[in-house]
Amino acid sequence: MTILITGATDGLGRYVTTELVNAGEQVIAHGRNPLRLQELRDELAVETVQADLADLREVDRLADEILARYERLDVLVNNAGIGSAGPREESANGIELRFAVNYLAGYHLARRLVPLLTASAPARVVNVASIGQREIDFADPLLEQSYDGSRAYAQSKLAQIMFTVDLAEELRGQGVTVNSLHPASYMPTTMVRQAGVGFLSTLEEGGAAVLRLITDPALAGVTGAYFNGSAPSPARPNRQANDPDARRRLQDLSESVIAKALS
Ligand SMILES: NC(=O)c1ccc[n+]([C@@H]2O[C@H](COP(=O)([O-])OP(=O)(O)OC[C@H]3O[C@@H](n4cnc5c(N)ncnc54)[C@H](OP(=O)(O)O)[C@@H]3O)[C@@H](O)[C@H]2O)c1
Repeated sequence: MTILITGATDGLGRYVTTELVNAGEQVIAHGRNPLRLQELRDELAVETVQADLADLREVDRLADEILARYERLDVLVNNAGIGSAGPREESANGIELRFAVNYLAGYHLARRLVPLLTASAPARVVNVASIGQREIDFADPLLEQSYDGSRAYAQSKLAQIMFTVDLAEELRGQGVTVNSLHPASYMPTTMVRQAGVGFLSTLEEGGAAVLRLITDPALAGVTGAYFNGSAPSPARPNRQANDPDARRRLQDLSESVIAKALS
């Protein structure tokens, strides 16, 4: 299989990349930092692509590169993310940073890669979300009026789950499944260290949950679902994920900020 995983230079992404390479899969490892990507190549002999996902123009260029370089893509794993620590920041396109990196980058990348995924069917999109979810307040979706890091993170993670539901519906019957998951709680990674909280689970636990969504044949027909760790049955996300009106508003907002960023 050919598997593109974003945020492969650290934490969960690095763990999953290592497991997949050791299992003989062709991994396209994405990162933003050229030196960290070089280290990954030295360690794993993996193919790499570079893009700062905090700039939608770079996400767009990354999609161009994947479409030009690869004839097939079996799985896209949107894993890259930033945690809740620190003040409000904006992306290169002036968008609240957690919304931009955790959600919009994966949204745009997946949509740009749909033609390659459908041409490679059966294929999968795996969105690494979180159990930390918070309803999006459409009066202030980019948290310009009041900011809280945990809320920014949790809104971006719910947005990923809402997008999962929409894309799964759009691709139903085309051989591409789209699912999201909470990998595990407080794994020992950089974002958890930065949040200053204690570790509760291991990379092996979260990694196993992600690897299952990538490879488990039993999930071949499952789409639009949200999983909590390695639990066999889907879990229920925040109820806003099941609100078609909220999903429509999120999609409209996403399309308008992406169009503006790329204009
Ligand atoms: N850790 C947990 O307990 C936990 C729980 C639930 C969900 N998750 C989710 O799991 C995923 C992975 O998190 P993690 O814990 O492994 O975090 P991590 O160790 O902090 O790794 C984050 C990865 O994302 C990359 N990244 C961050 N900003 C980027 C940007 N602007 N452009 C490109 N890449 C960027 C980082 O690149 P660099 O290497 O260059 O920094 C790194 O590879 C995230 O989506 C997170 O929300 C984690």
